[in-house]
Amino acid sequence: MQTQLEGWRARADQALTAALPDTTLAPQNLHKAMHHAVLLGGKRMRPLLVYAAAYAIASDEFDTESCDAAAAAVELVHAYSLVHDDLPCMDDDALRRGQPTVHVAFDEATAVLTGDALQTLAFETLAKAAWPATTTVETLRILATASGANGMCGGQALDMDATGQRIGLDALKRLHALKTGALIHAAVELGAVVAGATSEQREALSRYSTALGLAFQIQDDILDVEGDASTLGKTAGKDAAQDKSTFVSVLGLQASKDQLQLLLAEMEKALAPFGTNALPLRALADLAVRRRH
Ligand code: IPE
Ligand code: IPE
Ligand code: MG
Ligand code: MG
Ligand code: MG
Repeated sequence: MQTQLEGWRARADQALTAALPDTTLAPQNLHKAMHHAVLLGGKRMRPLLVYAAAYAIASDEFDTESCDAAAAAVELVHAYSLVHDDLPCMDDDALRRGQPTVHVAFDEATAVLTGDALQTLAFETLAKAAWPATTTVETLRILATASGANGMCGGQALDMDATGQRIGLDALKRLHALKTGALIHAAVELGAVVAGATSEQREALSRYSTALGLAFQIQDDILDVEGDASTLGKTAGKDAAQDKSTFVSVLGLQASKDQLQLLLAEMEKALAPFGTNALPLRALADLAVRRRH
């Protein structure tokens, strides 16, 4: 399993490197900042989900190469979201993936442009993929919807609105479902679509990825409390310092951990119909809740 995931991670890194602009060409600062944001670290959870979802559908006939563009595209949107999330006008973070954030290593204007350019590069990457036209349009739709006002951006807006405010559990679940869940859901959908999943299979995978998206952000909230900067690669304790609405602030630490176990069981149930083809998706679910960074 570990070797399979490592192989997919290497493929995703290759696809990302190939998509990024040449740092020896102007505007060099922008190009270097894009490389900094994408290639220096990161777990590559979303690209791995693309490959693992396609594998759950197609198994032996699984064409890894056909997933590369989708794997790179979803990570490009994710990397852009982190660059903007770290800006002084948002979470104001100086450390990301064990490196200075883009606005610290470069400057704020470059960080804004880096996010913009990574986002458009994601859609360019999908548009250029060697798929039938219907697949291309579907992947563009999935990633665009998950990234915008009804997805990640909308979630980030809810997160900003909820900062310094008390919100209830339902509002918090909605916030998490959008800011983090939407892209995780999209990653699984992209893999499923590229592998030619049926609508029933897509529904089952959607139950899995909805639970995974929530679990992933709950663990992120827990790690902000329990982790330290050297392991996390980002500053710990930021959520409390900024009075963010998180699972830990709304439910407490133990109840947040209990939620993770419930979500794991939900994921397991959703994956049952896929049998052993879903082993990589199961491994990623475990990783999401057990990770220490
Ligand atoms: C961090 O995402 C931000 C969230 C959406 C929780 P990851 O934990 O996937 O960050 P990287 O990509 O590994 O740095
Ligand atoms: C970030 O959530 C989610 C997105 C970037 C869309 P957080 O603000 O909790 O992520 P970290 O903790 O900075 O990685
Ligand atoms: Mg944030
Ligand atoms: Mg943040
Ligand atoms: Mg966080």
